[in-house]
Amino acid sequence: PVLVVDFGAQYAQLIARRVREAGVYSELVPHNVTAEEVRAKNPVALILSGGPSSVYAEGAPTFDATIFELGIPTLGICYGFQVMAQALGGEVAQTGNREYGATHATIAGRGGVLLEGTPASQNVWMSHGDSVAKAPEGYDVLASTAGTPVAAFGNPETCFYGVQWHPEVKHSDHGQAVIENFLHKAAGLPADWNSGSVIEEQIARIREQVGSARVISALSGGVDSAVSTALVHRAIGDQLTAVFVDHGLLRKGEREQVENDYVESTGVNLITVEAEETFLGHLAGVTDPETKRKIIGREFIRAFEQVQRDLVDQAKADGEPVKFLVQGTLYPDVVESGGGAGTANIKSHHNVGGLPEDLDFELIEPLRTLFKDEVRQIGRDLGIPEAIVGRQPFPGPGLGIRIIGEVTRERLEILREADAIAREELTAAGLDKEIWQCPVVLLADVRSVGVQGDGRTYGHPVVLRPVSSEDAMTADWTRLPYETLAKISNRITNEVREINRVTLDVTSKPPATIEWE
Ligand code: XMP
Repeated sequence: PVLVVDFGAQYAQLIARRVREAGVYSELVPHNVTAEEVRAKNPVALILSGGPSSVYAEGAPTFDATIFELGIPTLGICYGFQVMAQALGGEVAQTGNREYGATHATIAGRGGVLLEGTPASQNVWMSHGDSVAKAPEGYDVLASTAGTPVAAFGNPETCFYGVQWHPEVKHSDHGQAVIENFLHKAAGLPADWNSGSVIEEQIARIREQVGSARVISALSGGVDSAVSTALVHRAIGDQLTAVFVDHGLLRKGEREQVENDYVESTGVNLITVEAEETFLGHLAGVTDPETKRKIIGREFIRAFEQVQRDLVDQAKADGEPVKFLVQGTLYPDVVESGGGAGTANIKSHHNVGGLPEDLDFELIEPLRTLFKDEVRQIGRDLGIPEAIVGRQPFPGPGLGIRIIGEVTRERLEILREADAIAREELTAAGLDKEIWQCPVVLLADVRSVGVQGDGRTYGHPVVLRPVSSEDAMTADWTRLPYETLAKISNRITNEVREINRVTLDVTSKPPATIEWE
């Protein structure tokens, strides 16, 4: 793999994704990785990410400089560029000259292999305080800006390169070209990692892991469980049984999509558990968000365990035990829980409603090394309908945490209609790519006065919460076109009688979260 060394800024995951977009497999490692550990992973290249601090700051993230002696092609970015300059005998100056945001860079000569084919002057995205004042001996200066004489350097002999700016962010005009030049031209790596090769590799691995045992999988209707289930099915066919719990907190049309379109396109054996009565019974009178989450998680486990017992009994009779459980864990979950290799740390937030921890199963996690957009692509390659792979992330507790107040069947019906209208209009306006998700939240305990049709009404407001995000860790509210907002508002207040007001949430995350509960 290409190892992306994480110096603690949010940029490292983004770099790893850009490397994969260039067709080369990448993994993240922490900055305190040792030369021994690096050697053991046998990387084809290293990329040192940006970091929050100055190399001179107390507690600045360190890096084992002997790693440079391993002779692995290396690209340093921002903080990583300065770490590299310092380790290789250059000079990093505390100029107090902060450059932040879009900055004009001038390329020296033809820019060496790293900047080859990019314009002599270009916009780059900067975020730094210190600057490299002098390149290490034997290194060519490849670019400069008004505030930074050495904004990029490189040496084809050692195959060490660095840039002060952030090529991984879209605001750097030719950022992806820099990353691709480094990978393909400088380090000579072919672009041969893609969703097709991932599918083949995973199928082989799953077959080897499972043998002739039986496997169950919980389908939530979300993208991750849909794709991991389909991938396992592709590998082992009817040794797999998928379980879908209808808890009554689903979006409009979701159950039908799973039971019809998904099953048709994948051929998965599906058992649906009818659990609406039970869930709503237990949620009656409950308004506290955490209590709602706990109840939904607990009931999900109960429903799942029931099916599991039945399946296990049946499988025993057949002589092939149910040994494995499929989980749609993604790479960001693995990285965030400090993982990597080793046993899975199941976070309740990140799986279907929070599966029981004492389930006596081994886990199959075929998406463990992948990012969300890669998972979507694999889903498409496996033939899962776009309506399922392209859909917005949806929380395990479903609409239950989008009704502020008690969850009742009537309120769910109201919210389901409003949510369906918003999704329909966003898709019609071609905005699905622009938004990460757009929860519609029903303020069920708030009433406001309106005039609808012939008279005065006393209905409920809903809140539209459109957000843009790369990973849901941080988010900004999406500036939707007024026409789209107007259309959603008109349709909801016309078509959903109980709603007489549509409002817009214009808060970023942080300080707010994406969901209201
Ligand atoms: P927040 O509200 O924390 O949401 O900004 C971040 C992302 O996580 C989703 N989310 C959940 N997903 N179980 C889940 O599986 C949950 O309890 C849960 N709560 C929030 C949310 O939709 C957003 O994508």
